[in-house]
Order: sequence, then structure tokens, then C-alpha cells
Amino acid sequence: MDKTNKEKIERRTDEDGVIFMSIKNGEEDTERKEDGKDITILAIESSCDETAAAIVRNGREVLSNIISSQIALHTIYGGVVPEIASRKHVEKINGCVRAALAEAGCTLEDIDAIAVTYGPGLVGALLVGVSEAKALSFATGKPLVGVHHIEGHICANYIEYKELEPPFMCLVASGGHSHLVHVKDYGVYDIIGQTRDDAAGEAFDKVARAIGLGYPGGPKVDKAAREGNPDAINFPRAKTSEKSYDFSFSGLKSAVLNYLNQAEMKGEEVNKNDVAASFQKAVVDVLSEHTMQAAKEYGCDKIAIAGGVASNTALRERLEMECAKNGMTFYRPAPVLCTDNAAMIGAAGYYEFIKGNVAGMDLNAVPNLPLGDRERRYHGRSSK
Ligand code: KG4
Ligand code: ZN
Repeated sequence: MDKTNKEKIERRTDEDGVIFMSIKNGEEDTERKEDGKDITILAIESSCDETAAAIVRNGREVLSNIISSQIALHTIYGGVVPEIASRKHVEKINGCVRAALAEAGCTLEDIDAIAVTYGPGLVGALLVGVSEAKALSFATGKPLVGVHHIEGHICANYIEYKELEPPFMCLVASGGHSHLVHVKDYGVYDIIGQTRDDAAGEAFDKVARAIGLGYPGGPKVDKAAREGNPDAINFPRAKTSEKSYDFSFSGLKSAVLNYLNQAEMKGEEVNKNDVAASFQKAVVDVLSEHTMQAAKEYGCDKIAIAGGVASNTALRERLEMECAKNGMTFYRPAPVLCTDNAAMIGAAGYYEFIKGNVAGMDLNAVPNLPLGDRERRYHGRSSK
């Protein structure tokens, strides 16, 4: 069930161009833990260009989800400027935390733990969220939980689908990552394929820039593609090897750039919508083929998607169709839970917290934190 239309989004644009969004997601979860003790997490996310805070109960119920998006500020530069992102996070983070608590009707007293993204991401941006979470943990005495950003993306599925349990196959496609992940259990991840060069979202952003659609590329290509012919241009589908689930998008990106250059040299007019649709189809073909094959090989009858690219209309439609054809269940979070948000960090943080994975005051930002193979020294002590 897609709960997209159950979402209520309130948004306003601040004087500095930053968009403030409060997302009320779905109905209240009436299911309570057996011992009657709810676990309420304050979650913080600041790994890239969204400052976000959320209150999440028992890993799946979102009491508030506040996102302060800097997209408008970075648009003029054609991409995220790390220095500007960090400075805006510093300005916005307290307001986001305050709004998240107020909207959930909570005070810091009601919070059981504070979860924060500590990697991967832009180091200066991550440090703002990590420092905020540490300060709150220090002042209140509440435990601190470090969360991997990509694990957060995967866990957005638990918010949208209360019944979803591992194991399942998850395609994670964002601006910085393209991973095929076998989710074996809560917090237990096996990466079975990843990009060898550009991430899928990065390819969307670069192609969008080349055809003059601007930043952020993904949603703009998605929109333009709806008006274009996906079979107009036969762009290459990279196969890294017969047996590999890895991805490669840089050849496809170069093919699009070559196509545009050649058209320009010949003085031919380019149909941007056709280029967008044909490029998008090439990406969707590869992502969906790898995902379906992997699910079959690993015996998964559940497929989930995560990350910004998971909000792509064509990808969602294709996987929906493929899953129906193969008798598999398809899980796709509402687009607002696919792009960066703190509710997903609250979901991932909950499963870490109940396992006893609590961080110490030495928690640091780790810009290249690996998935599934976390360096405990950066994650602080475990209470177990
Ligand atoms: O997960 P995300 O919000 O941030 C990262 O962790 O990277 O993903 C952002 C990426 C950007 O590259 C953006 O262009 C892409 O997701 N994206 C999309 C769509 N919406 C966002 N790509 C394709 N189609 C979309 N509708
Ligand atoms: Zn992300």
C-alpha cells in the first residue's frame, strides 16, 4: 500500500531560501510493545544538504519529521557546496530539533535515546549533527546512538511497511551510493553489488546538468522523461561481468555527453525529453535487472528500494511490474522517505539501541563509513 497520499506536508520558505517542511506521515500505530514500554528516539540527520530532526516511536511510528532543505541555496552553484551546507546546518539544527519535539508533543524528558547519522557524508555537515546529538546526550544523560546513513535509507521501509521483516533484498540508490544489499536481519547487511564508479543519483545529476535541466537532476530528469520517448536513443547498458551484481554508470554518462556533443557539432537540435527518457530507461534497466536477478539467486520473495533515486517514477513502475510478474512483494517508501530525512535515522537507531549498540562521547563523523562492516572504534562502546 502506497501511503503517499496520506502524507500531509506543511512547508514554508524562510527568508534565506531554505525550505522548512513538516511531514506528518500516515496514521498512528496502535501496536504497542508487549511489556508496554515504548521507546522514543530523537533522530538527527545532517550528512548532506538537508538538516533534519524527527521523533520516532518503537522504530516504526513517526511522531514528527522535520526537514530543512537547502536545495535552493545550492541550485545556483549546480551542486552542493560543502562549506555552505555546514554553515546552514549550524543555523538550522536547533530549530529543527525544537520543531520535531514540539510537533510530537514531547520534551527531551520523554526521549529514550538520541540517534544521529555519523557517516557516510560530507565531513563538515556530519559534524554538525554529531555535535548537536552529543551535546543533547551530555546535557540530558540520554544514550547516544550512531547511525549509518545508508542503513537509515534501508530502514525507511520499516516506517512505510509496519509488517516488513528481514530477510529481503534492497536496492539502495542515492546521490553517493548504489548498492544491492541483502538484508539478512535487523542491522545485518551483506553488500552483494555496488557501483564501480558513479552512483546512480550522481549520473542523474550530471546528465541533468549536461542537458541544461539544472540541480537537483534526478527529479528534473524524471519529469522531463515523462514527456519523452524512452526508445528514441539506444544508450549503453554496462555489464561489469556475467556473474557480478556491480553497477557502472560512467560509460552511460559519457555516452550521453558524446551524443550531445555530436549533435551540437552537426548543428542538430536535441530533444531533451527524449535524451532524459532514454538515459533514464538505461539506468532503470540495469538497476531493475540486477535487483530481480539477485532476489532470485538469494531466494528473496521481498524486494525493497531506498535512497533518493528510489523516488524515480520509472524505477518504481518497473520494479512493481517485475515483482508482480515474479510473485514477489515490492516495498517502496513514499518519495519523501526515500530522500534524506531523520525519521529513517530514528528507525535504524531504534534497532541499534535495542541491540545495546550505544555510542560514547568519542563518537566522530566518518565521511567514508563502510556499510555492514562498521568500525566500532568510531561507533563508541557497546553497552553489551
Ligand atoms: O538519498 P538522497 O536524498 O541523498 C544522498 O544520500 O545522496 O539522494 C539524492 C539523489 C540525488 O542524486 C538526486 O538527483 C536523486 O537522489 N533523486 C532522483 C529522484 N529524486 C532524487 N533520481 C532520480 N529520480 C528521482 N525522482
Ligand atoms: Zn541519503
